Amino acid sequence: RIVPVVLCGGTGSRLWPLSREGFPKQFWPLLSQQTMLQETARRAVGPAFADPLIISNQEHRFLVAEQLREARIENPRIVLEPMARNSAPAIAAAALLAHEDDTRSVLWLMPADAAIGDTPAMHAALARAAEAARAGRIVTFGMKPTTPETGYGYIESGAPLEGLDGVSAVSRFVEKPDAETAARFLAGGSHLWNSGMFVATAATLLAELERLAPELLAAVRGAVEGATRDLDFIRLDPAAFARAPDISIDYAVMEKTSHAAVVPADLGWSDVGSWAALWEVSPKDAQGNATHGPVELYQARNCYVRTEGILTGVVGLEDAVVVVTDDAVLAMHRDRAQDVKKLLEQLKAAN
Ligand code: GDD
Ligand code: MG
Repeated sequence: RIVPVVLCGGTGSRLWPLSREGFPKQFWPLLSQQTMLQETARRAVGPAFADPLIISNQEHRFLVAEQLREARIENPRIVLEPMARNSAPAIAAAALLAHEDDTRSVLWLMPADAAIGDTPAMHAALARAAEAARAGRIVTFGMKPTTPETGYGYIESGAPLEGLDGVSAVSRFVEKPDAETAARFLAGGSHLWNSGMFVATAATLLAELERLAPELLAAVRGAVEGATRDLDFIRLDPAAFARAPDISIDYAVMEKTSHAAVVPADLGWSDVGSWAALWEVSPKDAQGNATHGPVELYQARNCYVRTEGILTGVVGLEDAVVVVTDDAVLAMHRDRAQDVKKLLEQLKAAN
């Protein structure tokens, strides 16, 4: 059975003012009644799956536990990080814990905050990936790129792997290329976007971490060995975990490993990283507007308007984003969705 691992420690800063440090985007219902964490965890329920591992910041432990209970996720093991160290240490902790149970466990690593529109296609792609994982690969899912996005990893696929249907070797993995490189990759037509999900055995991940990031693995091993366990929570040892470098799995392993493979797939995937991305995947009215909460529109087109309660009216705007929460309002052009980060930096500097 496949062990689902949900990475739940990001901050989702481009979805301000909804997403906050105390309440990041994975804990919000963005696309359905369920929160992104709940949708992610529900995707890995059934006879093919073992009980899940959820890796989160300790600050959010009650949010995580409550939301999993509400989504009827059984026997989750919730691993708590004392501080954020990005995805590589989180994945190392998951691999060490899964390895204690069974060295051959296949892990399905998932970000808690991506949308998958086509679950049957996801499960079919996962079955292929799991086979390649058992053959020693770290398997990515390749999404067909549509824009020269610089916030993603790019996968150049190589030769098909023998005996593994629908799986190719990765000839190069480039994390977050600059704009020029991304444009070249898009024009060339032979690159795919990395979805941010990975499939590998605990043994393969640990071997590659040992080879490519031995200090990181040693720090996280100390944090797992020194962990305290209560109820569903596994609390990593703070002093040991603090010694792990702050680095993502993409830089620490994927750019360097020779064991990477890719399953190209059409999953209806979106990383819902920005308000513009959320607009793209949301259901829209005949004028192209997506709304959430009590919203009144007059001659608005292609807008995303969301309110957490206060009645919100929009007149005559096109391609706008308006987000209203209890204590803040965001209004911007949809094309500027990446710049919310800049606004936040400015806000932080001013306070
Ligand atoms: N537990 C834990 N702890 N999880 C973390 C931490 C951490 O300190 N930091 C990030 N994560 C989780 C996030 O919640 C998210 O689910 C996942 O790890 C990826 O982190 P992001 O910060 O969202 O990465 P990214 O979007 O810049 O890039 C990744 O995803 C892209 C697709 O959305 C890369 O894998 C790219 O290659 C990929 O294209
Ligand atoms: Mg992301």
